[in-house]
Amino acid sequence: MNKKDWLKRKDLEYKNNELFYGNIRCNDLAEQYGTPVYVINEIIIRERYNVLKELLDSVYTNNEIHYAVKANSNLSVLKILNSEGASVDCSSAGEVFLSLKAGFPSDKILYTGNMFTNEDFRYAIENGVGINLDSISQLDRLTRIYEDLGKEKGAISFRINPEFGAGHHAHTITAGREIKFGILNNQVIEAYKKAKDYGFTRFGTHIHIGSGIIDATDYEKAIGKYIDIVMNLADTLDIKFEFIDFGGGLGIPYNPEQEPLDLDKYKEIVIKPMVDLLEQHKIGKPVIKIEPGRFIVAEAGIILTQINTKKDNGYKKFLGVDAGFNTLIRPTMYGSYHHIIPCQIHENSDVKEYDIAGPICESGDILGKNRKFPEPIEEDYLAILDSGAYGFVMSSVYNSRPRAPEVLIKGKKSYIIREAEEFKDLIKKQKVPKHLN
Ligand SMILES: Cc1ncc(COP(=O)(O)O)c(C=O)c1O
Repeated sequence: MNKKDWLKRKDLEYKNNELFYGNIRCNDLAEQYGTPVYVINEIIIRERYNVLKELLDSVYTNNEIHYAVKANSNLSVLKILNSEGASVDCSSAGEVFLSLKAGFPSDKILYTGNMFTNEDFRYAIENGVGINLDSISQLDRLTRIYEDLGKEKGAISFRINPEFGAGHHAHTITAGREIKFGILNNQVIEAYKKAKDYGFTRFGTHIHIGSGIIDATDYEKAIGKYIDIVMNLADTLDIKFEFIDFGGGLGIPYNPEQEPLDLDKYKEIVIKPMVDLLEQHKIGKPVIKIEPGRFIVAEAGIILTQINTKKDNGYKKFLGVDAGFNTLIRPTMYGSYHHIIPCQIHENSDVKEYDIAGPICESGDILGKNRKFPEPIEEDYLAILDSGAYGFVMSSVYNSRPRAPEVLIKGKKSYIIREAEEFKDLIKKQKVPKHLN
């Protein structure tokens, strides 16, 4: 894809050498809110959700998109998706709490935990949200807690590990024999039989094979195996499933050289085979679910950061900025590529190559290596693209740097949706024992 179109799909555009996000000059946002700042684009979130919704509707209307809250859990982001009619997938009781606060009804919330505690189960049951178990052993405790609370048992599913995983990095591949998630094929019948014996009557199935999948063929083997497992399960235990969940993982083009995920191919490989089987086997009309996180919000966010240091050590040139791996950990944690572009281009400037370095006191705090762009000056602003997913949610206060604010843009307007943390927040929850005072 040419660079201009690639930027345009993310609602970014240069006008007279200045970068605009939506209809707003990035320099204006940086000056108004300070840097670093996470900027989230409402229009793109709505657009990406609807692209997927139309894709699913075109093949099977009884579908639900459970946005994966872990990707970006800001209340305003959740409210945008709630207003579009999305459901959510939560990976912790905290995410369930946020989803309820954002107004999602409990029957639209699925809690896919791993290593559930009794408190997690209690919170989920008390709030009436669906639970997606990660191990047969958890079923005993879950059943006991349902009985202790005197609550009617809700729908239950197990996360099935189809042993074929995929993803942009080893840490995001979530299927395979050596992987901690889900139950393998050899335990599936036992798991659902046990659930039936415990008196559960409403069932679903689930997989999530990994994150950052940009080639839809990477789903092929896992989906083939999953479908065989589900069909065998339905036949063996005579179960009519309420839902069949295909997880998330849909990748986005972080690099202008990358082609976007081919959504038609995704539909053919992931959704269509199951839909065809449902028609042939007459096993009912379960809801088909998917759980995208990154696809919906990654391209809907940038981080604006300011250059504070230009350094040339004789071997290498560095641009020192005020965002670091405390702000965006993906480059350091996964070696991930995020495109970084200037918010203004100075006339007649030479193109030079730089490493973009954050302020964290570690050599690994490099946001971009060997990046070529027109020579900037200190105090210029840069935009780190595709930071809407796994950005703020993975941030930290390492080196005691308070977290950056979040801003939402829509058309020409911008809104603060999370205040910047301050030094006083660093000590808010601390207690000093008397003998040290
Ligand atoms: C169970 C589950 N569903 C959905 C997702 C969302 O993944 P992605 O953001 O890659 O779509 C994840 C991510 O780890 C997950 O663990």
